[in-house]
Amino acid sequence: MKSLKALIDKQVPAHSLSQEFYLDEAVYRHDLDKIFMVEWLYVCHRSQVAEAGDCYAYDIADESVMVVRDEDLQLHAFANVCRHRGSRICTAGQSSHKRLVCPYHAWTYGLNGELLSARQMGDKFDKCKFGLKVLQLQEFCGFIFISFAANPSSFDLLKKGLHASLKVFDLANTKVACHEVHSTHANWKLVLENFNECYHCGPAHKEFSASHSLMLDKEKQRVFDELISKRAPAAGISAEPVGFSLVDERAQTHAPYYYDRYALFKGYQTGSEDGRPVAPLLGEVEAYDGGASNVALGNLTYLLIYADHVVLYRFTPRSVKLTDAELIWFVRSDADLDKDVDIERMTWLWNVTTIADKDIIERNQKGVQSRFYQPGPYSPMETYTVDFIKWYLHKLSK
Ligand code: FES
Ligand SMILES: [Fe+2]
Repeated sequence: MKSLKALIDKQVPAHSLSQEFYLDEAVYRHDLDKIFMVEWLYVCHRSQVAEAGDCYAYDIADESVMVVRDEDLQLHAFANVCRHRGSRICTAGQSSHKRLVCPYHAWTYGLNGELLSARQMGDKFDKCKFGLKVLQLQEFCGFIFISFAANPSSFDLLKKGLHASLKVFDLANTKVACHEVHSTHANWKLVLENFNECYHCGPAHKEFSASHSLMLDKEKQRVFDELISKRAPAAGISAEPVGFSLVDERAQTHAPYYYDRYALFKGYQTGSEDGRPVAPLLGEVEAYDGGASNVALGNLTYLLIYADHVVLYRFTPRSVKLTDAELIWFVRSDADLDKDVDIERMTWLWNVTTIADKDIIERNQKGVQSRFYQPGPYSPMETYTVDFIKWYLHKLSK
């Protein structure tokens, strides 16, 4: 590989990246170091670590984090690495513990990360020096984020900026209704590039395009968005867009964010196949406004909020050519999942849409591997993707 700087310098503005960015192991290592080991990463929702002793472990690249609630109900994030000889302590996903016991030689940690006991280590062994390594943690609307960096970008602007728009949905008092992982054989940037544009929605997503106005060109979408600017406030929902672009200089020092509400087509109350409700209204929402909010929580985690449920999207690179696209559906915490929520109808749209995305992204990966691939120009409907690439190259060049 040429030097990273030379590679970054040769990228053509507003064009897709050159082939090395999607195939090269060395670039991928830089991606992990400069993006995923630095940015805020979504781990779990507070409802998944509600009780003392609850733990949620999330694996990414060579790292793993444990989010743990202690006896005083404080949340902690620890590197999932035993201080004896480095074994992983908890397995990925949800678990519950009185103590965190390493499965290898049984070093035992308290829920606050202190080493409590280590068998047969001799009289001179000082337990105090071998507590679990602490990671940075932030909670916002019940969503728990961590960073592997010692000094990650500030989360404050995001918290302040999104607080008013998200309040009505009471997202802290939701719970996971369903969870799906779509492993996609493509570089993570192709997955994010695709996620950030709706130029492909018309040709690739007939189900999505039947109900969501986002696939329209700007002018037609404006007409629909004018509808939402009347209906959403009547339902108690904000229709005011907030946030800043990824190329805004604030995005270099703060977790970027945005909130925007747009209209579903007539007759659609929520993102179900027939448009009918699938769960009780969220939080303090008073009525179905026929809209959906796009929300960015940083640049790697997104929400789509309907009046009665939320879909969270998380993207986890597994190798240079493999990415997990994860969908997590949330409903209000007092909803009865058997009686009040129609999980099949709630998950239908984003499962079919993500399966279609997996197919087009995998074709994209195959194409960029060709000797005939040449970076091509983005369309005006791909401006978020253009911003994403600019942001990415900027982060990589640091
Ligand atoms: S590696 Fe954990 S106790 Fe030995
Ligand atoms: Fe898509």
